[in-house]
Amino acid sequence: MAEPLNILMVSSECVPYAKTGGLGDVTGALPGFLRRKGHDARVVVPLYSFIDRKKFNINVTVENVSVQMGSGKITFNICETINSEGVPVYFIDNGQFFKRDNIYHDNDFNDYHDNPLRFTFLSVAALQLCRVLSFKPDIVHANDWHTAILPAFLKRLFRDDPLFVDTASVLTIHNIAYQGRYARYYYDYTGLSENDFIPEKFECFGAVNFLKGGIHFADMVNTVSKGYESETRTMEGGFGLDRFLNEKGEDYIGILNGVDYSQWDPAKDTMIPANYTMDDMKGKAVCKSALQKQLGLEQSGETPLIGIVSRLVEQKGFHILAECIEDILNNMDVQFAILGAGDNRLETFYGDLPGKYPGRVGSFVGYNNDLAHLIEAGSDLFLMPSIYEPCGLNQIYSLKYGTLPVVRATGGLNDTVEDYDQIRGEGTGFKFSEPDCRSIYKTVSLALDTFGNRKDHFNKLVKRAMEQDFSWEESAGEYIKLYARALAKKKHR
Ligand code: ADP
Ligand code: GLC
Repeated sequence: MAEPLNILMVSSECVPYAKTGGLGDVTGALPGFLRRKGHDARVVVPLYSFIDRKKFNINVTVENVSVQMGSGKITFNICETINSEGVPVYFIDNGQFFKRDNIYHDNDFNDYHDNPLRFTFLSVAALQLCRVLSFKPDIVHANDWHTAILPAFLKRLFRDDPLFVDTASVLTIHNIAYQGRYARYYYDYTGLSENDFIPEKFECFGAVNFLKGGIHFADMVNTVSKGYESETRTMEGGFGLDRFLNEKGEDYIGILNGVDYSQWDPAKDTMIPANYTMDDMKGKAVCKSALQKQLGLEQSGETPLIGIVSRLVEQKGFHILAECIEDILNNMDVQFAILGAGDNRLETFYGDLPGKYPGRVGSFVGYNNDLAHLIEAGSDLFLMPSIYEPCGLNQIYSLKYGTLPVVRATGGLNDTVEDYDQIRGEGTGFKFSEPDCRSIYKTVSLALDTFGNRKDHFNKLVKRAMEQDFSWEESAGEYIKLYARALAKKKHR
């Protein structure tokens, strides 16, 4: 094995403490796998007030640590727990910034106005924590725009500190649409100099763009699938940052997310009413019946059931599905189980649908992890019509649960699902290219026809899907190579 590394992962989300989407899944799982490979990976996240300190055994480690922010000092406590994989997880406890009901927005889905301050603070606090705990990181691993300022902090404000002279930085882009673009005022607050407020670095039409600065300063940058890496290098997929990613050349790569099969495997999932395996699928029928009962759907093993679990935002394509789901319901024998939260209009639309199609559509608006597991296990098909998808985790969970994904062929969805070959009866799901109603309608229709009329093919696909292995084992190895490249770059500078 290569030299063991000290790795500090900094993130706004981390499972099981705080999650809105896949970012939390990734930062919750990857450090454990790095640790299993002999590295000292640790995590830093905010101590949001909704995190249950008792349940997770979170204790205060150091009180009254302070950092400079703007013209003032901010004080915080460092709290700590050890997660189920033995990873030390540090929490930044500061009431001013993190005593909130949610991670990013108020209960009406309005972003907290001080988000740039909150996450700049998280980033600077994470480095201060290293000093206080005498943890000398080889790698600081930033995630998305929230902590993208870390590489610049290391190369500027913390440059002369012996603790960080050998530290290299990695930035993972989980979603390039969220860049953290804010008024210039927030840049001044970071303490970085005027020299770095230029178009090649943080400046963007007079405003600050945190993700862009991160791309410039990080020793290595990656995103969460190879497909999305290619897409973000184009004008259409780069959301204005393609030029900067292309300038990184080979220092920008794609690494597919893994899945934590200790949480997402029908053979051992503790949140579903019956377990099952490829060789004994009886439990899946039990899960389907339980799901139908829980969401008020008609009890029927024969009727194909399509599951949906998603943030209800434009990225995910549910505004397009909204235009054709009623055509599907009116022309096909099918049930839907829908779980989602997000955009108010979409919440209302999908929340009202069961009233219009009683017994055929069941929906739950909100966040519900137990139901997410039951939908994966109890559905026959899983629909993800994303406009773009950096990686996507639910289609990978679906494969393991033998719930065939019906996906738009984009980013990580395209990389992880093999399209149904109607001649040979091979594949692991159903793919379509265009983000429009016609394609969704046609592909759902093909999937339902295969379910109903070509059972041999359908069952073959289910078996092949369940055989797929996207465990973190391999992807964690890719991250270790990425860290080694970041360190090599740092040394040669
Ligand atoms: P994204 O991060 O873009 O939301 P991913 O597919 O990477 O998409 O990850 C989504 C994660 O969040 C999955 O673990 C999924 O089960 C979970 N999730 C999304 N919406 C909900 C919800 N309403 N309730 C419970 N879990 C959800
Ligand atoms: C983002 C992306 C999603 C990805 C997740 C974890 O939220 O939208 O596709 O799986 O991050 O990397």
